[in-house]
Amino acid sequence: MTLAINTVHRMDAIEGLRKIKDSSVDLMITDPPYNVASPHRRTFSRGKPVRTSEKFGHWDTLHPFDHELLMLQTLTHAYRVLKPGRSLYLFAALQQQGLLIGKAIERGFVYRNHLVIIKKNPLPQLNSNNWRNAFELCVYFTKGKAGQFNFLSQQECVNVFPYAIGKKQSTHPTEKPLAFIKRLVQVGSNKGDLVVDPFMGSGTTAVASANLGRKFIGFEREGDYIAMAEKRLREVA
Ligand SMILES: C[S@@+](CC[C@H](N)C(=O)[O-])C[C@H]1O[C@@H](n2cnc3c(N)ncnc32)[C@H](O)[C@@H]1O
Repeated sequence: MTLAINTVHRMDAIEGLRKIKDSSVDLMITDPPYNVASPHRRTFSRGKPVRTSEKFGHWDTLHPFDHELLMLQTLTHAYRVLKPGRSLYLFAALQQQGLLIGKAIERGFVYRNHLVIIKKNPLPQLNSNNWRNAFELCVYFTKGKAGQFNFLSQQECVNVFPYAIGKKQSTHPTEKPLAFIKRLVQVGSNKGDLVVDPFMGSGTTAVASANLGRKFIGFEREGDYIAMAEKRLREVA
């Protein structure tokens, strides 16, 4: 089966990636589940365990072993489908950075940098027992030696990206800032290139790609999120 381009397919990420040919993708940007809401993982507040599963969708509740397997399969396919020298931008929870960077390098990726999204208005620390979280990390890898990097300007290529949360285009709980994803698309690809995001959510990678004249293929399992992505894409057209 050939996958339609410029479409967010209702499909499991790994099943979808399996349908993409080797060395055929120009850029991959992906924001997989962090597994922070897994009921198998507990956080503690004032000495008592608190289940975190209610805060997110059920898509973020895998058993840690299953989550690790999903991430390993994603990295394997990401390496296989990317063209040599092309980039993978992977969002990941702070706790998973070590594992994922190590496993990506094992597969042949070259670690290139970290990009940091700084939230200018972070959520309050309600329990007053830890630091307020005000950043998110995105890891930049290339498949072997880097071959594609459109250096826009000194200002635009700083690896710290400040933004104010609140200006969302959907009700997806983890929609990424469109301006940041557009920057990644501009730097990591050229017009007409193919951008893939196997965990598309509300379609931010698709919208950024469509805006910038790139082709895209995305996968997402939840129908409601696909509807959000399609609505956002209609507004680009
Ligand atoms: C962190 S969110 C992505 C949010 C996205 N970056 C945005 O801006 O909206 C991860 C998404 O992956 C989807 N998902 C989780 N497991 C999946 C799987 N195995 N295959 C496809 N999609 C999956 C979830 O439904 C969720 O929408």
